Amino acid sequence: MSRHPDASTPGTEATPAAAQFAAHVQYYLTQSPRQLPSRYLYDSLGSALFEAICRLPWYRITRAEERLLVRHAAAVLRQLAPLSSVVELGSGSGEKLRIILGQRGPDPDPLKVHVVDVSASALEATSRAIRAAEAVRVETHLGSYEAGLRSVRESGQGAERTLVLFLGSNIGNYDRPGASALVHGLRGQLGAGDGLLLGTDLVKSERELLLAYDDPLGVTAAFNLNLLERINRELGGDFDPSDYREELRDARFELPGATGPSS
Ligand SMILES: C[S@@+](CC[C@H](N)C(=O)[O-])C[C@H]1O[C@@H](n2cnc3c(N)ncnc32)[C@H](O)[C@@H]1O
Repeated sequence: MSRHPDASTPGTEATPAAAQFAAHVQYYLTQSPRQLPSRYLYDSLGSALFEAICRLPWYRITRAEERLLVRHAAAVLRQLAPLSSVVELGSGSGEKLRIILGQRGPDPDPLKVHVVDVSASALEATSRAIRAAEAVRVETHLGSYEAGLRSVRESGQGAERTLVLFLGSNIGNYDRPGASALVHGLRGQLGAGDGLLLGTDLVKSERELLLAYDDPLGVTAAFNLNLLERINRELGGDFDPSDYREELRDARFELPGATGPSS
């Protein structure tokens, strides 16, 4: 079995993004079954397609989570007061973060907001949305959840109280060992009094899952197949996306030949 590229090159987060992308594609497409890490779905086209998915009538998780935040975010913030920073891991459009910050009440304490995302366009959308709505300092961190949270920690927020947000059922992109390693890693970065708000979906019927993740308009299929196009665009690949179709199996996405769990 070939070695994982991150295992053979310690500190690989520092390698140029394209080289890391190429090394991951090479490694994961030679595994059995073939797979691709979901983080690579989010180039600027992927991020735009994800925002379209969030508006589909069959993808209900976004609206459900927003309703929960409108109802309960103020109570979460009260529990953690006095809070000095909020870190969102994988913010997408930043809409949920905006809802949470909007629940802080009148004359809130100054707050530093850190946004971590692998997608430059998601970071841009989030900081634009937050700066327009809230008087807070926003710092963006382009990179993985782990590297982003590390860089927030290294920026010297040590003794202050932090709320980390991990929403949108992002945890569902990981298999069990991957999710466990991620959560343990997050725990290692949090101190006494800090909080983690983790949003995850409940078990759904097969019919609901099929409609949500293999929608009749084909937006989710476009979102997934865009990863093959991204490999063509950025790494000179020669995939013909018309040779591939999306298929939902075992409550996960699978593209025959090139599929993808994990980070
Ligand atoms: C499913 S979207 C969720 C967006 C938002 N949190 C929501 O609830 O609607 C996942 C977001 O996390 C980012 N992302 C995916 N994998 C990541 C990783 N390993 N590290 C950092 N960001 C990641 C994507 O670019 C995207 O913005």
